[in-house]
Amino acid sequence: MGKTIAQKIIAAHLVDGTPAVGNEIGLRIDQTLTQDATGTMAYLEYEAMGIPRVKTELSVAYIDHNTLQNGFMNADDHRFIRTIAKKIGVRYSRPGNGICHQVHLERFAKPGKTLIGSDSHTPTAGGIGALAIGAGGLDVAVAMGGGAYYIPYPKMTLIKLSGHLQPMVSAKDIILEVLRIMSVKGGVGKIIEYGGEGVKTLSVPQRATITNMGAELGATTSIFPSDEVTHEFLRAQGREDDFVPLASDEDAVYDEVIEIDLSKLVPLAACPHSPDNVKPVKSLSMTKVDQVCIGSCTNSSYTDLMTVAAMLKGKTVSPEVSLAIAPGSRQVLSMLSENGALTDLLNAGARILESACGPCIGMGQSPNSAGVSLRTFNRNFEGRSGTRDAGVYLVSPETAAASCLTGYITDPTTLPAIAPVQMPETFPVNDNMVDLPASLDEYEKVEILRGPNIKPLPQAKPLENVFELPCLLKVGDNITTDHIMPAGSKILPYRSNIPHLANYCFEVCDPEFPKRALASADGGFIVGGSNYGQGSSREHAALVPLYLGIRAVITKSFARIHKANLVNAGILPLEFVNPDDYERINLNDTLVLDNVFAGLEGAEIRLSDKETGAEFALKCDISARQAEIIKAGGLLNFTREKTLK
Ligand code: F3S
Repeated sequence: MGKTIAQKIIAAHLVDGTPAVGNEIGLRIDQTLTQDATGTMAYLEYEAMGIPRVKTELSVAYIDHNTLQNGFMNADDHRFIRTIAKKIGVRYSRPGNGICHQVHLERFAKPGKTLIGSDSHTPTAGGIGALAIGAGGLDVAVAMGGGAYYIPYPKMTLIKLSGHLQPMVSAKDIILEVLRIMSVKGGVGKIIEYGGEGVKTLSVPQRATITNMGAELGATTSIFPSDEVTHEFLRAQGREDDFVPLASDEDAVYDEVIEIDLSKLVPLAACPHSPDNVKPVKSLSMTKVDQVCIGSCTNSSYTDLMTVAAMLKGKTVSPEVSLAIAPGSRQVLSMLSENGALTDLLNAGARILESACGPCIGMGQSPNSAGVSLRTFNRNFEGRSGTRDAGVYLVSPETAAASCLTGYITDPTTLPAIAPVQMPETFPVNDNMVDLPASLDEYEKVEILRGPNIKPLPQAKPLENVFELPCLLKVGDNITTDHIMPAGSKILPYRSNIPHLANYCFEVCDPEFPKRALASADGGFIVGGSNYGQGSSREHAALVPLYLGIRAVITKSFARIHKANLVNAGILPLEFVNPDDYERINLNDTLVLDNVFAGLEGAEIRLSDKETGAEFALKCDISARQAEIIKAGGLLNFTREKTLK
C-alpha cells in the first residue's frame, strides 16, 4: 500500500512503536524551536538533564512573545536564553528578528525533516514540507537531549485543492473554508495533507498560512508536498541545497478526503469568538470597524504585506480606524523598507510595530471597549485581545486592507483589483540577528547568566518501595490545573521561578498548603477526588508540587494529561481501587505506602493510615514506558540515562 507524505516522514523517523492509528509511536526529532514565553522553562529542563550539547541537527531559540513586558524579569529571561543557547549548541534569534514561525520558514525549516516547537503554531513549517508539531517545553527539552517525541499515530486526511484563487481571495480564505467545514475539533488525532492540482498555484508562504491555522483545527499537524514551488522558495532564500522533493504515493490511502475548488472561494471571516465561526465577508459589510491589525505568524510574509501596501498606496486609512502592522520578520521589514512599500504604508496612516507577535499575544493594541477589531491572526477567543467585550474577526490581509480604508468590514473583491504581488527571485539574506552557538572548543567557557528570576528546576528524589509521609493536602473532585497552579498576568513573568510560583500553589483551595508542605522535611502526599488535574496541559502544575515535596498524588481518578505530567515530573499517580476509601483519609494523617516497586508492574500498592489504622488498596495505572520514567525519577533523568549510556 502506498504512503502519504506524513507516513513517509514518520517511517523515516520511527524509533519506537507500531504505526497503526491510535498506537503510541516515538519519533526521532531533527529540529526544535522555542519561543521566549515557553523557552525559559524548556532550557531549565534541558539543563536539568545534564547533557552538555544538544543532539538535534538544528535547534533555535526565538525571542518574539514577551518583548514589551515591564520589569527586569523579561530582560533576565532573554539573557538566560541567549547564554544557555550559546553553551548548549542552540541558535538564538534576537528580539526584532521576527516571529519564530516566519523566521523558521524563511531560514531553517527543511522538507522531509521532523520539527517540534514549544509553540502551538509550529505546524507553520508544514508549508515547506516539514513534519512540524507543537509540543510542551519538556518534550522539546527531551528532543534536544536526543530523546524521542511520542504521539498517537494519527489518521490521515487529504484536502484536495483544484482550480486557482480569484483576485483578492487568499490563502487565509482557504484555511477559513477548511475551518468552516471541519470545525475547531475536526482535526483532532489527524494529520492534514494538502494535494491536488491547486497546490502548485500556492506559494510557500501561502501554504504556511494554511498549515499555521491547522492548529485551530486541533490537528496533530498539516503538511504540503515539497515541489518545484518549494524548490524556488529555497533557492530564493539561498538554501537550494535544503530541497528534497516529497509527494504522496499514487495509491496512498487517506481516512478522509475533502475537496475544495479554489476558483469558487470568496473572502471569508471568522467571527467572534471562534476561528470556525466562518461567514462570507460580504454578509458582514455593514459592520463598523475600530481597529485593524495585520501581522502574526499567520499572515505577515513579504507577499502579504506587499499586497496590503499596494492596496493602501496613495490612499488614507479611515480616521475611525487604528491600523497597526507588525511585519513577520526583519527580512520582510527590510524588503518593505528597501522597495518603498514601508513609506506607502506609513503615508496611508499605518502604525508600524516591531517584528514580533505583538497584539496577537496581547502585547499592546487592545481594542477599545466593545470594539470591532479585524485581525489577520489565527485566534479570536474572547478576551485574547486584552479587551473582554471586543469582537475580533479573523480575515485575510486583503480584507483587512479594504476594511481599514472604508471603516466598515469590506469584501476586497468589491474594490478595484491590484496586480498580484510576485514572489521575489531572491530574498536579502542577513542572519546577523541569529547568534551562533559556541564551538565545541569554546562552549565549556560560556557562562550562563541568570538574574534573580531564573531558578533551578526541582529534582525528583529516588523512588522507594515504602514511603511513610503525611497527607499534606486533601481536595475534592474536579480539581483543575488552575486550582493547582493559577495563571494570569501577576504570575506570568515568573514562569522560570518555581520557588516564587510555589507561593500560589492551591491558593484558592488551601492557602496554607505551601507553608505546610515546605515544613515537612521529607515531603508528603496529596489526596484528591475524581478527575484530578483537568484543564490545561500546564506542566507547572506538576513541577510546583514536586518542588513542595509531593511524592505521590492519590485520587479517585486523574485527567489524562495531568497524570502524564506527574509521571514526567517523577511524582507517583495513584488511584484508589475502591473510590469510597477517599473518605477515610484526613488531612495530616500519616500514610504508609508499601509495595511500590511491584505496583509499577501492575500489582496492588498497599496504603495504611497510621492515625486510623485503616488499610486500602491503590493501583498505579501507567504504561511500561511511564513506569521506567518514574523509576528513573522523571522524564529528564530517564532521557539523560538513555542518551548518555
Ligand atoms: Fe506569536 Fe501569535 Fe503566532 S503569539 S507565534 S504570532 S499565534
